[in-house]
Amino acid sequence: MARKRKGEGQTALVTGASAGIGVDLAECFAKNGYDLILTARSAPALDEVAVRLASAHDVKATTIAQDLGAIGGGAKLAAEIKQRGLSVDVLVNNAGYGSAGALTHSSIEEQLGMIDLNDRALVELTYLFWNDMLANKRGGLLNVASTAAFQPGPLMAVYYASKAFVLSFSEALWEEARGTGVKVSCLCPGPTASKFRERAGTGTKRLAQSGVMPSMPVALQGYRAFERNQRVIIPGMRNVMLATVARTLPRTQVLRTVRRLQEPA
Ligand SMILES: NC(=O)c1ccc[n+]([C@@H]2O[C@H](COP(=O)([O-])OP(=O)(O)OC[C@H]3O[C@@H](n4cnc5c(N)ncnc54)[C@H](OP(=O)(O)O)[C@@H]3O)[C@@H](O)[C@H]2O)c1
Repeated sequence: MARKRKGEGQTALVTGASAGIGVDLAECFAKNGYDLILTARSAPALDEVAVRLASAHDVKATTIAQDLGAIGGGAKLAAEIKQRGLSVDVLVNNAGYGSAGALTHSSIEEQLGMIDLNDRALVELTYLFWNDMLANKRGGLLNVASTAAFQPGPLMAVYYASKAFVLSFSEALWEEARGTGVKVSCLCPGPTASKFRERAGTGTKRLAQSGVMPSMPVALQGYRAFERNQRVIIPGMRNVMLATVARTLPRTQVLRTVRRLQEPA
């Protein structure tokens, strides 16, 4: 008889599952037997991922296209999930974007949109599924922050701050969930190959010139950390080192270094 997979009988909702790290996170959960609910804005891309993962890993995969940057997008998604008779054991808050450049002359819609997607929707979805997770004493939360979370980011200020929020929020919930059976992990990737850097405009920055990791090892480390309820996971030795140094150096020095890294190479 085949061995029961870890996630069998559970469902993982993965946001931002149409591209990049989200696709690979969805694959890690599917491989371990979790059924999937995949969401992002691009329905055709989501459908492609769902068909591939369902057949490769013998799980159910449902897609729901939703703009999570829209106010109330999380509530709409949760209502649709309920209406379809589905439930969520694990919430993977991965959808997010960055926008590089000085605050001056930037677009306020772009800046606030980052907070709406990276933080607001993440809190909204967490709030909507958290009580059931605690009541069921299983499942949990895998939030995707960034190594940007460990220090302020001149020339990408809102993005760095939005990810510091994700890290702080996740660590606090890890403690709130301690002893309940509900797991919380915060995945903090450094530069990773995906569509992110193109959208963020960071492809030419010093920071992105080396040490870019492929998305699957990043996702896999996030998945494994989640399963062992590891509070924070930073994939890659270089990224661990940079995050550690950022917490120990004088703040002014860190600010100048990050500014230099955010400048074009
Ligand atoms: N790549 C990196 O270097 C890096 C480093 C650190 C942290 N991260 C974080 O990793 C996460 C995933 O990023 P990625 O690198 O995989 O980027 P990506 O390839 O650009 O993927 C982003 C995903 O988010 C979805 N998304 C974007 N806007 C959305 C919206 N308004 N509503 C719903 N979904 C939306 C996108 O799908 P649609 O466009 O179809 O909506 C896509 O599925 C993000 O939170 C990012 O901040 C990335």
